[in-house]
Amino acid sequence: MAERARVAVLISGTGSNMAALLYASKADDCPYEIGLVLSNDPAAAGLQIAKAEGIPVWAQSHRGMERSAFDALIDEQLTKAGADYVALAGYMRLLSPEFVAKWQDRMLNIHPSLLPKYKGLDTFRRALEAGDEFAGCSIHVVTAGVDEGPVLGQTKVRITAGDTPDSLARRVQFAEHQLYPRTLSAWITQQRSRAE
Ligand code: GAR
Repeated sequence: MAERARVAVLISGTGSNMAALLYASKADDCPYEIGLVLSNDPAAAGLQIAKAEGIPVWAQSHRGMERSAFDALIDEQLTKAGADYVALAGYMRLLSPEFVAKWQDRMLNIHPSLLPKYKGLDTFRRALEAGDEFAGCSIHVVTAGVDEGPVLGQTKVRITAGDTPDSLARRVQFAEHQLYPRTLSAWITQQRSRAE
């Protein structure tokens, strides 16, 4: 198999999607490896999961820094680590336009709704209030507009009577953990075959 692509993952919290990407990368036929996990919160629980697997981590609080200056620090770490792609996985900070432009077509995000519905926050509450039949998750290419880039994959999760934002979030997360590794792998394989 060709050398694996190096993926860096940005997280802000639990890191369960990062963990799904990481453990999926242990399969022999996975086209990527996780080269670095970064966080804007040094207390993010996901950092411990990465460390346990021997993955290099970098964490620093963004507090008190200009967005573009903080993102430049992240970019420096990505370059040092030789990252080919960036996967946002519960990274709860908007990125500066410079950073997004630099990583254009090399950065994906996971969002907990069936885009284009419910960009931004509070997606489960909004789906419940709208009386939707389905919630779900989407993987999209990151572009300048928040949660706006081309959607590469989605999983629908049925809403049942009595669902709350929390109960829905739990089921959507199971779906996310399946969808993200699969979609990232397929996208990397496609990007690489285009570049050949
Ligand atoms: C995930 O459900 C992801 O879809 C969501 O944050 C959660 C992070 O969980 N992302 C967003 O809301 C982005 N706007 P995790 O840290 O356990 O992966």
